[in-house]
Amino acid sequence: MDETPGRIGVFDSGYGGLTILKEIRRELPQYDYLYLGDNARAPYGTRSFDVVYDFTRQAVEELFGRGCHLVILACNTASAKALRSIQQNVLPDRWPGRRVLGVIRPTVEAVGDISRTRHVGLLATPGTVRSHSYRLEIDKLHPGMMITETECPMWVPLVEHGEADGDGADWFVRKYIDATMQADPDIDTLLLGCTHYPILLPKILRCVPDGVSVLSQGEIVARSLADYLRRHPEIDRKCTKGGRTEFLTTENSDIFNRLASMFLGDRICSTRITL
Ligand code: DGL
Repeated sequence: MDETPGRIGVFDSGYGGLTILKEIRRELPQYDYLYLGDNARAPYGTRSFDVVYDFTRQAVEELFGRGCHLVILACNTASAKALRSIQQNVLPDRWPGRRVLGVIRPTVEAVGDISRTRHVGLLATPGTVRSHSYRLEIDKLHPGMMITETECPMWVPLVEHGEADGDGADWFVRKYIDATMQADPDIDTLLLGCTHYPILLPKILRCVPDGVSVLSQGEIVARSLADYLRRHPEIDRKCTKGGRTEFLTTENSDIFNRLASMFLGDRICSTRITL
């Protein structure tokens, strides 16, 4: 087993994981990170279980192959459709000692302290909604809490095509928020169950009724990772600490650099790879 320490891998279908990476780097600036966006094959949210599983497994194996011992699936769709199978079927045989963590569990843990009415709305990709992963976790951790799940198939394409600030985005942002609030007017917390959605946050906040909070996952996942590394010194020891980040994308790197630099507020120089 290779014990040489490596970077923490952060994977998403495209740009969304950058909203998670940004908060993780704020919380844990001392670590090194290797970000991988599968932009060429995004969005994942409308793809079948088998396809999301195959794509996610390829990405995780790529990050392991590049020396990561710990990979964060900074993607709800991949967490919903592939995390459990990778943890059960891929790690024990092929990569013993390596770890993959998702974003759904920490988000559901956090919502328990935030909702007063115990009525929450989930805005997510069709894949995440249809997996009912949020509903299942909520039933386990917060029995009796009501969840209304809304598919937002247009939000990821708007982000992936650099249209998050465009006028056309307003219409689709309002459409899904209104549908959710009409389905259950007692909702007091909206969960952004897709890591791309914080990029639409300024528009989302303009459409949300007074008294309803919007929960993005970045800070929650970052705090949960910090806690995980404290509780698992054997994994922490295998994570290098130089404060550097490298970016990989499966699409054209110039396009990735331009949009990713905008989302992260930092100049980015990525490398294109094939999975
Ligand atoms: N950002 C991802 C998520 O959290 C995936 C979006 C997509 O590729 O459809 O679900």
